[in-house]
This record gives sequence, structure tokens and C-alpha cells, in this order.
Amino acid sequence: MNAIIPDGSVALKLQENQRKVKNSELFNILDGFEKIILKGGPDVSDYGNITNSLDGLHDAMYREENGLSVKKIDIDLLKSLKSKYREFFYDVSSMQGLALAKPHGYAGDFEIIERIYGHNVSQRDEFIKWDKFFHTADAVSAVRNRSKIILDYIAAENPKSVFSVGCGSGQDIRKAVYNSPDTTFTLLDNDAKAIERAKCNLHGFDDRVSFVQRNAIRTKFDDYNVSLIWSAGLFDYLNDRVAIALLKRLHAGLANDGKVFIGNFAKGQTSRSYMELVGEWFLIHRTPDEMKNLLEMAGYKNIKVRSDETGVNLFAIGEK
Ligand SMILES: C[S@@+](CC[C@H](N)C(=O)[O-])C[C@H]1O[C@@H](n2cnc3c(N)ncnc32)[C@H](O)[C@@H]1O
Repeated sequence: MNAIIPDGSVALKLQENQRKVKNSELFNILDGFEKIILKGGPDVSDYGNITNSLDGLHDAMYREENGLSVKKIDIDLLKSLKSKYREFFYDVSSMQGLALAKPHGYAGDFEIIERIYGHNVSQRDEFIKWDKFFHTADAVSAVRNRSKIILDYIAAENPKSVFSVGCGSGQDIRKAVYNSPDTTFTLLDNDAKAIERAKCNLHGFDDRVSFVQRNAIRTKFDDYNVSLIWSAGLFDYLNDRVAIALLKRLHAGLANDGKVFIGNFAKGQTSRSYMELVGEWFLIHRTPDEMKNLLEMAGYKNIKVRSDETGVNLFAIGEK
């Protein structure tokens, strides 16, 4: 593979407005990234540099608007690198390739979440180091942490019934299901393939686990009368208007003493540049106050916000 920076081909593709950004810095960042591709992936000693470099590139490219990254200038350097090394960036056997390729049509699908839980590493030599790097990201640990957080919460609260909204393949709730013989669980997702996978993962619990394939936003929850509604990895994709509307619907689905437990990635989380620049996996990030505000607007009481140990996952817990 030829190096992209020395021959200057990408530099020539810069548009006029891109030249205002310090070209030399961008070249250095992407030159550094390309060298790591060419040497077969990052060593642990490269991790800090990659993260800092991508943060620099992210700052140059995006500003934040309502928690979402919005492009402020059109830098095509990374796009050019991705098209030059298309096979490398989009190979779904790697974690970052699966994130970028989105074979199920949307970011954060059940397959990538399953592979995160499984610490999967590609069989292909050129991706092994990249996958190891991927799995060290705080955001990735945060996804895995959900399972223990909801396991412990359910063990402490012993709710009669739990509803998981945006359940994916059910990996987050699986251990809690095993551990809570007196609790019934309903898992809802709009992706039929996610529901199929969740059914496999929770095979053998038909007496107290059921599945619903439906769009949560269009669902009325009034008849469920559920003790605890858990939703992790869904609200990060919903703007405030939609999030509040869904929270109101969930409110109607709670028993009188019911609670919601809602996850969202935090502003300032350290894996954002890598997720967004390499994986094109964009989320609406929120602060604890913004999370609290969403629940308040939807009519919840006694709202508390906590985070996991990475600080990436925020959870707002509110009572009906
Ligand atoms: C990032 S995954 C989270 C899965 C799981 N809760 C976890 O944390 O491991 C988000 C899931 O939300 C689902 N989803 C997205 N929008 C949805 C909607 N409007 N209604 C129901 N499910 C939705 C996706 O299909 C996906 O499986």
C-alpha cells in the first residue's frame, strides 16, 4: 500500500475552505494514522497518540449542537483515506469496520453490541491490533458495564416486572434474567433480527420472558403496568422532543410505584472522536442536568442521575 500523505494526492483535493485549517496539522494526523495502518495496527504505545490526534481532527471538523456533532467545515482528508483503504476501513470482520459498514442499516445494531460483549477480535492479522484498541475504548467498556449495572439494580430492587426498550440482542439484561427467577421481562426492539437474536440468547425462559417487535416511539405502553422500564443505548439516538414524548409514553406504562432507568452517553466522553471519525457512529451526548430535565419534562419525580465507572454511561432514574 502507498502512503497517502507523501505523494500529496490528498492535499490537492482540499477545497479552499479546508485550507484555512492548519493543513500541516491535519496532514500530520492522517499521516500518523496511515503509518499505523501500514505497520499493521496500533501498539499500546500508540493509543494515546491516536486518541489525541483524532480529538484534534474532530475539533477541527465538528461543533456540538444539542449534543450532536455537526460538521463545521468540510474536510475530506479522512474520507480520502477511507476510500484509499476502503477494504481496510469497511471490513466487517473488524470491530471498527462493522461499526462503519453498518450492515444492518443503522449504527449501534445488535451485532456490534454482541461483539462488544464478546470482546471479539478479528481472525485477520491486519485487524487484531485495531480490535484490541477498539476494546480498550471507554465507550466500549461502558456498553459492557450496562449488564452489571442493571443486574445489581434488579437484584437490589426486586421488581415484579421489567420492560427493556431498545433491547437489541438482550445482552444487557441477560444476566439479570438468569438471576431474577421471580421477575418477568418484556423485551422490545424494532429490529426483527435483534429480537430473533434476543430470543436465542434468552432461550429457556419462555415462562417469564416475552418479546415485542415494534417501534417504541409508535407504541402505547398504557396496558403494561410494569415495575421497571430499562432503556440503554436508545435515548442517545433521540432528540429532546422525541425523547420526552417516549418518556411520557413509558410513564403511562408504569405501575403506580414504577420507575424508569434510562441510559445515555455523557458529554465529554473520551471515545467520541474515534467513534465518530472512524466508525461514523454519531450519538446525542447529554449532561446529567440534561438527562434530569428530560425526565422532569415527562412528569417523573425523585429523579437521580448516576454514571458507570467510566463516566461514559449516564443513567437517569425517575419515579412515576
Ligand atoms: C445500541 S442498541 C442497545 C441494545 C441494548 N439495550 C444494550 O444496551 O446492549 C440500541 C437498540 O435500539 C433499537 N432501536 C432503535 N430505535 C428504536 C425504536 N424506535 N424502537 C425500538 N427499538 C429501537 C435498535 O434496533 C438497537 O437494537
